[in-house]
Order: sequence, then C-alpha cells, then structure tokens
Amino acid sequence: MSLTDRIEALEAELAHATARTADEVERFRVAMLGRNGAVTELFEAFKQVAGEEKRLLGQRMNRLKQAVQARLDELKGGIQEGSGPAGPALDLSAPALTEPTGSLHPITIVRQRIVDVFTRIGFNVSQGPEVEDDHHNFSALNFPPDHPARDMQDTFFVEGDGAMALRTHTSSVQVRVMEGGQPPIRTISPGRVYRNEAISARAHCMFHQVEALYVDKGVSFAELKGTLDHFAKSMFGADVMIRLRPSYFPFTEPSAEVDMSCSICSGKGCNICKHSGWVEIMGCGMVDPAVLTNCGIDANVYSGYALGMGVERIAQLMYRVPDLRMYWENDVRFLDQFTAGPFRS
Ligand code: DAH
Repeated sequence: MSLTDRIEALEAELAHATARTADEVERFRVAMLGRNGAVTELFEAFKQVAGEEKRLLGQRMNRLKQAVQARLDELKGGIQEGSGPAGPALDLSAPALTEPTGSLHPITIVRQRIVDVFTRIGFNVSQGPEVEDDHHNFSALNFPPDHPARDMQDTFFVEGDGAMALRTHTSSVQVRVMEGGQPPIRTISPGRVYRNEAISARAHCMFHQVEALYVDKGVSFAELKGTLDHFAKSMFGADVMIRLRPSYFPFTEPSAEVDMSCSICSGKGCNICKHSGWVEIMGCGMVDPAVLTNCGIDANVYSGYALGMGVERIAQLMYRVPDLRMYWENDVRFLDQFTAGPFRS
C-alpha cells in the first residue's frame, strides 16, 4: 500500500470514528497517535521518502495529524456534553421507533356502539345544531311557554338573542327530521347537549345523548318495547331484561322510563343499582300526535315512537365510571383504560 493510500484510508477512518466513553476516546488516540499508532507509523515510513515527493506528502501528513487532533477534540466534546455518541448520528439499521397510539374516548366508543346497534336494524343517522331555537328545542315538542317541564331543562342562552339557546336534549333533532321529510322515518341522532347544572359527580353542564325516532303507518308500542329489549341485550348481553315505568314527557304519550336489570350485579342488588336490581337507562314513548302535527305529519295516518338516552350513563354502566367529571378531565391514566371492543376498532 502506498503512503498516499494509507493516508486516504486513515482519513476515511477518522470520518467514521465514534466514541461513547472517555476510554473509547483514549483508545482511539492510542490507535492513531500512540507509539505504535497508525499515524506514528506513517511518519516513520515518511522518513524514507525523498525529494519533491517528500515536500508534497509532508503537507498532507501534517494536515492528517491536525485532522486527527481535531477529531479527538470533537469526540471528547461529545462526551462532556453528555449528548450521546459523537460521530454519525443516524443508525439506519436500528429498529424504527414506534409512536404510541392513542385510544378512542370512552364516550366515543359507547356512542359508536349505540349507533351500530340502531343502524343494523335500519336506522339512519341525523344531526342538528347545538345552538338551537325555542321552536325546535321546546315549542314544537309540545312544551307550552309556561310549562314547568321547561324548568327541568334550564340551559345557557345565547347573548343578544333570547330566542337562541344551547339545546337541552337531542329531541330537537326529531323536529328537524320530521319537518324535513315525510315518513317512513327511522333515524337516530347522537350529539352533545347542555343544561344549567352545578357540576358534580352525578351532573354536568354538558353531556351526550342519542335520540331515536321511528314514524310510519301503524307503529305500535309493542315495536318500541321490542326495540328496547334488542338494544339492551345488544349492548349488555343476552341475559339482561328491561322493564317500563310510566313517566311524563311533553312530546310522548304514553311515556315511560326504561329500566334494565343491573348488568353489574345481575339484578342481585349493588351500589350502582342502589340495591334495587334495576338501573334506569333512558326515556321513551309514543310520539304525541300534537308533535306530529306541529312538524307537518298527518297524525291520523302515522304514528311513531321515540327514545332518548344519555351516553355518559350507558358508559357508566358499561365501564363502572364512578364520577361523571372523569370523562372530561383529560387524565390519560383514565382515558388509557378503554378499548373499542368487538364493534369497531
Ligand atoms: N329528551 C328527554 C330528556 O332529555 C329524553 C327523552 C325522553 C327523549 C323520551 C325521547 C323520549 O325521545 O321519547 O330528558
């Protein structure tokens, strides 16, 4: 190997030199500049060169020595700063770093599952605005202006226009759908709703509902009951039972609250069901003929049922969430625990 070749080989070696520790730097220094180091040996060989060639090679040899010194300083600097190994920073053979993937929010998971159950039996999905007018949120749904049922749904009014407010329930979407087209109507409306509530473990000023509406010729209470049973079993397992309790909503007649046998204690009695064996999961009823009429549908020809449920409530029963506020605190230790399950990934 000629001297020039040896110089070039050393220059290449310099460019790729790395050192993680002070010991490695020192080993590199000895390998280059030590008594038997590559550069030292090169200078020994250089002594044999004569004449013009000596002058030319001499300059290169000096540059090499300076380069070795400079590289040594760089390697030392890298260690002092604790910035990891000096030298080539990128190891293309290293396994790729994977980004941690997030998970869906529990409310999103449960909303999707509810939507799935209904879309499989022929419901489509509809949506309405969160800032709603009095007509869609109350009047068309048969809440007279002074009716006490309005008090139960106090909300946030939009400044400057008392007629607009944040919707208190997704029942407002029923009105929009019925005003927008004639039966058959089979629709579900998932969405965010608002109430003027002091925030606590059991109440929040913002939560989620899913509404369902079915209007056609000859829709009966029996169909409502069958759908409720199908829904409860699809969400919580084939063993659960439902029962209906008479209730009151301005927009349905008759109206009922739906209870489900407690999925946590299988009806034996626990804290969640307050030892009754039953938990309330939603409200429902036959659409009041006055509501059909308000929305331009002939109540002599058509009938329908409606139901509305709170997504946080269903999620609470599914995941045993003890405090409503946990859903919106964005604590990843809470959020990390949910996976989408068999319905969707
Ligand atoms: N809108 C009611 C609420 O927010 C829930 C509800 C009850 C919806 C009965 C319905 C229904 O569609 O038929 O409390």
